[in-house]
Amino acid sequence: MKKRSKKKFKPLIKKKRISQRIEQLAGMIENDFKGTELILIGLLKGSFIFLADLVRSLHKADITLVINFIHVSSYGDNTVSSKNFKLEKNISIDINKKNVLLVDDILDTGRTLHFVHSYLIKKHPEILKTCVLLDKPARRAVPFKADYRGFEVENKFLIGYGLDYQGLYRELPYISTIDPND
Ligand code: IMP
Ligand code: MG
Repeated sequence: MKKRSKKKFKPLIKKKRISQRIEQLAGMIENDFKGTELILIGLLKGSFIFLADLVRSLHKADITLVINFIHVSSYGDNTVSSKNFKLEKNISIDINKKNVLLVDDILDTGRTLHFVHSYLIKKHPEILKTCVLLDKPARRAVPFKADYRGFEVENKFLIGYGLDYQGLYRELPYISTIDPND
């Protein structure tokens, strides 16, 4: 794999803007769930940094937070609407009659969240909401709206803050664009 200098990446959304926005999202979540137990389900791997910061922004909230993870992988042609998903790692708790917040890094075509949401709803949670840091509405292939979303972004490939390009650059503390042809 060709190595790139990380210095080349220019922040599209800076670290400070991300943390300010996460504080706001946490405020909305606190409003909606105060006094209750909330199970946050992070979609691996992309959500791990966002989820970590989101729960820390909720540490003073009057919410009993439970963290869990799910991992799905997709295969097949990305250009067809019938993309297939494989459940790589299931949740390890019972969400029946529970309040659940599904958390992901980015809502792109919507297929992943549509799949995971449909899968979790069959487990009969009391409430199932979704929270994404980024939303690329121009790319939507299946209708899906997140209940909480950080930033609406243009149709450009993004890296950093959990998002990867070929498994790399998740560690960047900001969101940047990357041109795969570079
Ligand atoms: P969707 O199923 O097309 O909505 O895609 C969701 C998943 O694709 C996300 O959880 C990301 O892992 C990945 N993804 C979509 N857009 C980007 C991007 O711009 N950069 C990195 N990963 C992305
Ligand atoms: Mg992902």
